[in-house]
Amino acid sequence: METVVSGIRSTGNLHLGNYFGAIRNFTKMQHQHKCYFFIADYHSLTTHPTPENLHKNVKQVLVEYLAAGLDPEVATLYIQSDVPQVAELYLLLNMNAYMGELERCTTFKDKARSQPENINAGLLTYPVLMAADIIIHNATKVPVGKDQEQHLEMARTFAKRFNRLYNIDYFVEPHAFNFGDSLIKIPGLDGSTKMGKSESEGNAIFLADDPKVIHKKVMRAVTDAGPTKPNQEKPQPVQNLFNIMKVVSSEDVFQQFEKSYNDCSIRYGDMKKQLSEDIINFTKPLREKILDISANKEYISKVAREGAEKARESASKTVKEVREIIGFKPF
Ligand code: TYM
Repeated sequence: METVVSGIRSTGNLHLGNYFGAIRNFTKMQHQHKCYFFIADYHSLTTHPTPENLHKNVKQVLVEYLAAGLDPEVATLYIQSDVPQVAELYLLLNMNAYMGELERCTTFKDKARSQPENINAGLLTYPVLMAADIIIHNATKVPVGKDQEQHLEMARTFAKRFNRLYNIDYFVEPHAFNFGDSLIKIPGLDGSTKMGKSESEGNAIFLADDPKVIHKKVMRAVTDAGPTKPNQEKPQPVQNLFNIMKVVSSEDVFQQFEKSYNDCSIRYGDMKKQLSEDIINFTKPLREKILDISANKEYISKVAREGAEKARESASKTVKEVREIIGFKPF
């Protein structure tokens, strides 16, 4: 049995990318491995949410985890900031993380480009906090989408560096995984290669989106004038629609549109109509559960409370041992 840790930032509602990149596999994994799944609310502070939005978003992600099938009786489901040991380990690991490697991180460079007015130190040390999240439970496996690969590599670096510095075999090296499948990246509907929470309007389909909204977003998705030669390579935005169709539609439907693209008879309007129906069918039960669980305040608070206790137990054991290794000793 592996120890698994994975998290989702609480910066807004979850979208299909989060679902297919991460959550879908969480629900299968929880029955086979020791799983810790959490809401990365410390991480969300890099974007300076208001206190109301912070709280609302944490609740939303918690509810969506549950709606997607995470069982808090089986896995440990918790909120990152309920486990302050994570912040302590982050501080300790920061002493051992170098400016150069943090500045070279692709996600840091992207953020520095996209939000030049807010390049805070939390963004720079984001991978250190993420490493702390993972190694605090000594996880071996980290289910994530393809966009998180580099962060995992950094987590391994920090774990190995700690071991080397203190000449001890303490932390294990965590690896990204997708439960036997290769890591995936779900594209956006606006032609961009990634579906994301903070991308442009119309990029993402959220699990909680109303069917009408889904229909509108899909019908507006970016395409082109259509293929003119048989078996022509698909331009990025069209390939994106096929990639989304691959995960939400049946194989028959997918093949039917592949064929019509390849023989140039495709009508994007028909494809979008089918895709929107399939997404709506897919998200409908999730949306209903989200609404249901959202209304159950007592249940949400029980899950958060019990999850925090379980997570703190594992985290405080690690931090206690790490402190001893470093040389913090009582007088
Ligand atoms: P976040 O909140 O951006 O995304 C949460 C999870 O969803 C996956 N994901 C995607 N997968 C496929 N296609 C997409 N378009 C897509 N968009 C998002 C992400 O890969 C991720 O698995 N840094 C993390 C949160 C985090 C974490 C951790 C994860 C903090 N500490 C420790 C694992 C372990 C993040 O920002 O994910």
